[in-house]
Amino acid sequence: MQLSRSVYIETYGCQMNVADTEVVLSIMRDAGYRRTEQLAEADVALVNTCAVRENAEQRIYGRLGDFRHYKRENPAMIVGVLGCMAERLRKDLMETESYVDLVVGPDEYRRLPELVEHALQGEKGIAVKLSRVENYDDIIPLRTEGVSAWVSVMRGCDKFCTFCVVPFTRGRERSRSLEGVVREVRYLVDHGFKEVTLLGQNVNSYHDGVYDFADLMAAVAQIDRSLRVRFTTSHPHDMSEKLIRTIAEHDNICKFIHLPVQSGSDRILELMNRTYTRAEYLSLVEKIKTLVPGVSLSTDVIAGFPTETPADHEQTLDVIREVEYDGAFTFKYSPRENTKAWHMGDDVPDSVKIERLNEIIELQREISYRKNQQEVGRIVEVLVEGESKKSVHDFSGRTDTNKMVVFPKGNVRVGEYVNVRVERANSATLFGTVVHTATQPAPSPEPMEVNA
Ligand code: SAH
Ligand code: SF4
Ligand code: F3S
Repeated sequence: MQLSRSVYIETYGCQMNVADTEVVLSIMRDAGYRRTEQLAEADVALVNTCAVRENAEQRIYGRLGDFRHYKRENPAMIVGVLGCMAERLRKDLMETESYVDLVVGPDEYRRLPELVEHALQGEKGIAVKLSRVENYDDIIPLRTEGVSAWVSVMRGCDKFCTFCVVPFTRGRERSRSLEGVVREVRYLVDHGFKEVTLLGQNVNSYHDGVYDFADLMAAVAQIDRSLRVRFTTSHPHDMSEKLIRTIAEHDNICKFIHLPVQSGSDRILELMNRTYTRAEYLSLVEKIKTLVPGVSLSTDVIAGFPTETPADHEQTLDVIREVEYDGAFTFKYSPRENTKAWHMGDDVPDSVKIERLNEIIELQREISYRKNQQEVGRIVEVLVEGESKKSVHDFSGRTDTNKMVVFPKGNVRVGEYVNVRVERANSATLFGTVVHTATQPAPSPEPMEVNA
């Protein structure tokens, strides 16, 4: 009997890539491959790459050096580069990195088994065409069992922010059907998942021709009232009042919105082509806070975009102070070829970028710390996600508002909802103890009777 061949895959970049890796593994499994966690024993070794910033690419290039080493030891191993670096670097990768056998872009994963077969005959494979329709709607991603699942609902991006490669690496926006997403989430619920995060680079511009993102969220939330529903990433431009009200109306839609602002300066926002002004963004935040009481917000911020002055930077700090985000992902501007901003030069010196970045990080850390202190003494509901990274005696999980909570294991189980009394907090994590197992949110659409 022939033993099945093995595939190894390493994933970089955003959650979309994590979700794509599960699609790739599903396609490879159907072609007879089993997954291995050992690069050294792999017949096919894949890297799912990210091109969003230069340091992401550098890291991956470094890692590919290790793949070269394994390929030398085992020349029969097929090495493939997938994902967002594929399109831009196909020439480089195939010419200079001669140990790479395949370069496959995000819309061509169905062809992987065929390309691997050809590579085994010594033929190098390039498949980097972007598609207007491919959304892998019919493929059930191969997930490892767990509590929480990523469900990609749309692909690509049409926003063309001037700093960003995503529209070039992932192509035009396209959405899966509402029915397809609902079918997949139902399957996940039946297989024990307790939380889903609907994913898209621009998830709230989802539209399947009939239904918009608010319709999709409502449909997913109604599948099972005890399933937590999250989503990421939303663009402020597409944050409709209908969507905000949908979030407010469903108990199991988490009260947490990642709403990247990027900059607080109107001049920079315009140069970035973000399509909103600082005032529009702030009034959107006001509306969200009013309609969704207790909502938690996070953001992405770029420091040192071309021509950014100290005054522009101050305005960014101001917005952060005014919104009081619960968390922020902060980045140094990194020029990317092909983008519009590439032609604006990169005139903010690196040392200034670092200085501004550090100021942003420090300010956000203070705000997060202050907000987390307000949680001390409260009882929060947590979905138990797994063992704490720092201690085998503790579990960790998140609140509805996406705050990480760490607490002694006691006799609770992964996948349960528990009530935790918060005893202390730092800027990143809440610490506490379980007070009693929470009753799960109402399992049926009928309201439960409350005995006074
Ligand atoms: N689609 C999402 C995020 C895409 S990339 C959105 O629009 O919010 C994630 C983050 O990386 C962006 O929000 C941005 O803050 C950052 N980013 C993207 N391109 C960058 C670049 N060239 N330099 C620095 N940061 C960048
Ligand atoms: Fe990039 Fe802007 Fe699209 Fe986000 S919305 S993926 S930042 S182009
Ligand atoms: Fe990176 Fe591609 Fe995601 S560039 S951030 S992996 S969409």
